[in-house]
Amino acid sequence: MTRYYSIHIYDRQANTEYTAMIPDDQYILKSLEEQGIKLPFSCRNGACTTCAVRRLEGKIYHPEAMGLSLQLEEEGYNLLCVGYPRSNLVVETQDEDEVYELQFGRYFGKGKVLFGIPLDED
Ligand code: FES
Repeated sequence: MTRYYSIHIYDRQANTEYTAMIPDDQYILKSLEEQGIKLPFSCRNGACTTCAVRRLEGKIYHPEAMGLSLQLEEEGYNLLCVGYPRSNLVVETQDEDEVYELQFGRYFGKGKVLFGIPLDED
């Protein structure tokens, strides 16, 4: 049986706030789009982090979030394009490239990447 949760979003770039009800069996980004709420996105498959938000309250389940390290998830970041709500939520959009820089900026240009892109070590 589908459960519905409330979500309150502060879109920092647009200086706009939204509140909606979202089902627990649909991706959050898709559900919001169907309700006319447009937020930043690009790949729609959990890889690019364009749709990342900082979670201020609540819990998001996203086992397909391959572009987000466990460390950043623990710090409160989530991806709306592959995320399902597991409680009422309060989130805010990230600054442009905020999550990408947090995740990869410390490696690129610093000579630390030897064999691929590290996600969860350190
Ligand atoms: S749109 Fe690319 S990770 Fe969500």
